[in-house]
Amino acid sequence: MAGFAEGDAKKGAGLFKTRCAQCHNLKEGEGNKIGPNLHGLFGRKTGQVPGFTYTEANKQKGIEWKEDTLFDYLENPKKYIPGTKMAFGGLKKAKDRNDLITFLKEETK
Ligand code: HEC
Repeated sequence: MAGFAEGDAKKGAGLFKTRCAQCHNLKEGEGNKIGPNLHGLFGRKTGQVPGFTYTEANKQKGIEWKEDTLFDYLENPKKYIPGTKMAFGGLKKAKDRNDLITFLKEETK
């Protein structure tokens, strides 16, 4: 299975808007929605956003969020974290995940 490769951040922005933004904010201080704010995601362990009530499954996963872990997670969140309450089926195309992760890397800084 191929891993992460740099993608198209503009396309990633479109994907975020249509597939993620209803549940996640990206910027510092914007707060949590149905899902936790993704600001500062890269380099953070799972389940660390203050004030957000995670499932035990998400908290206990214990991996660090970065390009490769997001690449696997976003393909099929319920397979990567069995028991997660994130109601998202996954982005099956590697290219979509690459574009989205490229966007997230910049926008969550
Ligand atoms: C229907 C709402 C919803 C959608 C759509 C959604 N998420 Fe989530 N997301 C959640 C929830 C709720 C959680 C917390 C899961 C838990 O605690 O089990 C979560 C957790 C996460 C986490 C783990 C965060 C952490 O701090 O450990 C990441 C990363 C994430 N989502 C990214 C995304 C991305 C990228 C998309 C778009 C492709 C997306 N999500 C789409 C609701 C959603």
